[in-house]
Amino acid sequence: MKAQEICEGVHWVGAIDWNLRNFHGYSTPRGTSYNAYLITGEKNVLVDTVKHSVYDQLIERIGSVIDPSEIDLIISNHTEMDHSGSLLRLQQMSGAKVIASAKGKEGLAMHFPQLEVEAVDNQGKVDLGSKTLRFIETPMLHWPDSMFTFLEEDGILFSMDGFGQHIASERRFDDEIDGCVLMQEATKYYANILMPFGKKFLSALESVKDLDIRMLACSHGIIWRSGIGAIIDSYTSWAKGEAGMKAVVIYDTMWGSTRTMAEDIAEGIASKGMEVKVIRISNSDRSQVMHEVLDARAVVMGSPTINNCLFPPMADVATYMKGLRPKGKLGAAFGSYGWGGGAVKELRGHMEKAGLKMPLEDLRIRYRPTPEQREDCFDYGQEIGEMMADWSP
Ligand code: FEO
Repeated sequence: MKAQEICEGVHWVGAIDWNLRNFHGYSTPRGTSYNAYLITGEKNVLVDTVKHSVYDQLIERIGSVIDPSEIDLIISNHTEMDHSGSLLRLQQMSGAKVIASAKGKEGLAMHFPQLEVEAVDNQGKVDLGSKTLRFIETPMLHWPDSMFTFLEEDGILFSMDGFGQHIASERRFDDEIDGCVLMQEATKYYANILMPFGKKFLSALESVKDLDIRMLACSHGIIWRSGIGAIIDSYTSWAKGEAGMKAVVIYDTMWGSTRTMAEDIAEGIASKGMEVKVIRISNSDRSQVMHEVLDARAVVMGSPTINNCLFPPMADVATYMKGLRPKGKLGAAFGSYGWGGGAVKELRGHMEKAGLKMPLEDLRIRYRPTPEQREDCFDYGQEIGEMMADWSP
């Protein structure tokens, strides 16, 4: 396995995980990569490592450029194990110095007590001779330890998870792959990893706005070099919570009643000129749902009641959404029940904790919707559609 040079003296030496289909609960139908970068010169520097299970790929690729024992310095931009899983082994083999943010040092000490790590300051620099590294702390993007590293002379921002996508590819750059696929995966990535941290990302963008960035070398997927402006504009829009005239109806069903309600509500929303996506969660997955929620103005969720509780597939997606906090959107809850009817109440609680605004009463129907109740569902959808037109987060 070979390194790929991304500019003179800088190589991609990461690992491709072609068949990964689940990244801690996030579906990855296109696999992923763990990107590490080797800067060679007076000092040899590795920016991040890879997941422990693909250490051999990292070593082979580094070995196609230099002997891995010649690495002088390893930068850990992010403590999560997909990027630091090979750190200890590589450090022990090379004797390299390891640097990270102060929070990174703290986090790495808990994973690797025997590893010595030097903390760098925000905006601190390391002089490599002909090249200079600058460190920019980006706390909570998406862990406390996260930081960007900027290679000043080449204009490369090593942005760890920022701007990443779960794509396994033999190509390295954004102008070498299908732009629709790239944006789809970048959007899904933001929605599932970075959505709770929009304000922090806006601050991070502010702190790099004066840098001459010619490459965004992220830690997963494809490097941005032609579409840097476009992806920064998209991140800015997502971070501000901007949404289109779109509703997502997420539901599950036991015997079809909640499905009927979902479809009638969706028709009502659409009748007001809104775009609608209807997702039955047991035929989809939570990360795909969040991809659709990111730019939606309304999130409508429906669950049947089972043993007076939320239906488990809906509990899963509602819990996941609560963590990702899609703030400021219009929310509404509905569902069918036989006698207890506790699911919708429980669902509302999750949705409110996720930051959704819920001005409408919940819509609950006992057993099967009658023709009149189906009209009520349509009307409920129309009411949601009308509210969406004037909704501001
Ligand atoms: Fe790709 Fe937060 O690790």
